[in-house]
Amino acid sequence: LENGLLRQPPMGWLTWQRFRCVTDCHQNPDSCISEKLIRTQAQLLVSGGYLAAGYEYIIIDDCWLNQTRAADGSLQPDFDRFPSGIRALSDYVHSLGLKFGIYEDYGTQTCAGFPGVLGHLEQDAKTFASWNVDYLKLDGCNADIKDFDTGYPSMENALNATGRPIAYSCSWPAYQEYSKIKPNYSAIAQTCNLWRNWGDIDDSWDSVYSIINWFGDNQDRLSPFHGPGHWNDPDMIVVGNYGLSPGQSRAQMALWSIMAAPLILSVDLRTISDWAREIILNKNLIAINQDPLGVMGRRILKLDGDVQVWSKSLQDDRTAFVALFPQPYGTPIHMSILLTDLGLGRFDEYDFFETFHDEFHGKYHKTDRYNFTINPAGDVHAFYVEQAVIKSQKF
Ligand code: DGJ
Repeated sequence: LENGLLRQPPMGWLTWQRFRCVTDCHQNPDSCISEKLIRTQAQLLVSGGYLAAGYEYIIIDDCWLNQTRAADGSLQPDFDRFPSGIRALSDYVHSLGLKFGIYEDYGTQTCAGFPGVLGHLEQDAKTFASWNVDYLKLDGCNADIKDFDTGYPSMENALNATGRPIAYSCSWPAYQEYSKIKPNYSAIAQTCNLWRNWGDIDDSWDSVYSIINWFGDNQDRLSPFHGPGHWNDPDMIVVGNYGLSPGQSRAQMALWSIMAAPLILSVDLRTISDWAREIILNKNLIAINQDPLGVMGRRILKLDGDVQVWSKSLQDDRTAFVALFPQPYGTPIHMSILLTDLGLGRFDEYDFFETFHDEFHGKYHKTDRYNFTINPAGDVHAFYVEQAVIKSQKF
């Protein structure tokens, strides 16, 4: 969507994977979906250095709404959990230097059964604008999927008519892909700033790996529509929760970076471990993800042991690579790959660097092989290369 927003993949934090739809604040005062939770996580996004690293959106997913609309038909939050109202929460989030996002659903009800926007598109868009919302995730439960090709653009028109720039995250193709309806990605890219393509992520390696494979298998259909202002979205980063080992966490972050995917965390920032925080804040991965060219990386090789290699072109003739050893068992394996099989041949010499620690791994000629080791159980070897600087010769 050419609304001037999200020229780079969005970075932020969202409630859903970690906090789901807990609405009983008496029993779960610290984890229910409430203004208290959002304020706390917003503070931690700032004090923990996440905002400084680029994580700027804080987004409330499903389960913030009241069961009914107000007498005038407008949306209202659950007042027990959001006693100050959404505008006050949005003002607070903005006062910290963050941007504020919210969730709704195109249908009659959200997936969790709260009022959807159907029949109230203009009114709800105005409400969001009056709350200074910066980002809307519009889900697709309880709706007729056949209506999406007109419905999602209608909501975009309504948002646009408010005059407030609102990043628009659509679930439009995800529901179509599940139903085996071919999405019109060209229309989707014109209408939405990002869109979920596939199933919900869960806190497990199985889930993360199945999403990586789905995007690899469908990359030819998806990558032409990916770029500044319009992004495919493989769903949240689940690093820092319960299901991923440190290696698998590095793998998720490295693959999401190479896909130039939205980096939307869903984690409890009160209890996140130091190692998970370090992975999430890795400067090189973030730079690869946010590279101005906005290229969606590709799976370029599938090798023995299900090892797969992905690559992404970056500005200034750099290329980022991730080699993934996905098997949930095994011992470290030693790889030897011709530079030409990595697609490197345009320049005579390349400098290789390991990505996580920015370690120089040597100079390679285009006819050489690159040898490296990858650890098993879903770990990665991430590296990037640049054209070796050719020193001017004096005669
Ligand atoms: C389905 C979406 O795909 C999830 O990300 C989440 O928004 C839930 N619905 C909320 O009900």
